[in-house]
Amino acid sequence: TTRVLTGITTSGTPHLGNYVGAIRPALAASARDGVESFFFLADYHALIKVTDPARVQRSTLEIAATWLACGLDPDRVWFYRQSDVPETTELTWLLTCVAGKGLLNRAHAYKAAVDRNREAGEDDDAGVTAGLFMYPVLMSADILLFNAHQVPVGRDQVQHIEMARDFAQRFNHVYGAHFTLPEAIVDEQVATLPGLDGRKMSKSYDNTIPLFAPRRQLEKLVYGIVTDSRAPGEPKDAEGSNVFQLYRAFASDAETAAFRQAFADGIAWGEAKRQLFERIDVEIAPMREKYEALIAHPERIEAQLRDGAQRVRARYATPLLQALRDAVGLRDLG
Ligand code: TYM
Repeated sequence: TTRVLTGITTSGTPHLGNYVGAIRPALAASARDGVESFFFLADYHALIKVTDPARVQRSTLEIAATWLACGLDPDRVWFYRQSDVPETTELTWLLTCVAGKGLLNRAHAYKAAVDRNREAGEDDDAGVTAGLFMYPVLMSADILLFNAHQVPVGRDQVQHIEMARDFAQRFNHVYGAHFTLPEAIVDEQVATLPGLDGRKMSKSYDNTIPLFAPRRQLEKLVYGIVTDSRAPGEPKDAEGSNVFQLYRAFASDAETAAFRQAFADGIAWGEAKRQLFERIDVEIAPMREKYEALIAHPERIEAQLRDGAQRVRARYATPLLQALRDAVGLRDLG
């Protein structure tokens, strides 16, 4: 079997980027024969950015309800909250001890923080926590704990999966073949979904379209997407337009081709946005209804998460950590 694994950080409300970059491809992969899937809520990761406990909890509930509304079947896939599997943090330490510090220096999130500091004339590491620096090691532990083969993600996460391969290789080299080398699965059509302002859709840029925004709010947000000032009738550049990029993420090849032609023919921005809104809403509306029903029963979601974690620990995490403790020379807890 092929093991497919992916997680979402519980730092905010899930958005269209999370859906097209991770949730939709992950659920499509999990429907294939011979696939065993692991989908989880990365709440340890959330602490790197969020210090408001209520927000972490709210986001955990929202992201869990989102997975379920999008079709995740907890009887067929492993579905859990990262912090309910504390073996994750123990494995993080074992990997930390083989992870090259120089490699971590090159991680995008850390480098971006250093670059900002340099521009502001500050110390390189001003305001940078060790948590941010270690982020890729924690993420590697998520993946290696279940020896995942494939990790469906948006392009922004590819570097982290390459790091997981590197740490796995180093560990295997020193202690024997314990880990499978994971591979990132990126849908090139939507590798980076743009947000309202044309930059990558991201909680950090405050430019997101919430996946389950009510229909009216979705419409308002879509009409607020930034475009160039070309008038109706003027040919428009499809590839360079966020309206087109977003449309393509929700449309078939034939619909996308027709939309590209409409751009060449000078479609008005208002009309292009109307079509985009309708296209997104058609796909999302049925799931939005399920989401609203699910989120009304947090206790059911909570029970599912706990049950998932308990089972996945017993089946995989606990025995793996036993083997790893033995391999590195720590006492057997079993
Ligand atoms: P996070 O929570 O930032 O994003 C979750 C997933 O959504 C994808 N994504 C996007 N894809 C396309 N376009 C966008 N604009 C966009 N924005 C977000 C991300 O690429 C990601 O796949 N560290 C991870 C969570 C994580 C994880 C893991 C993922 C923790 N452990 C292990 C995979 C395997 C993160 O912060 O993703």
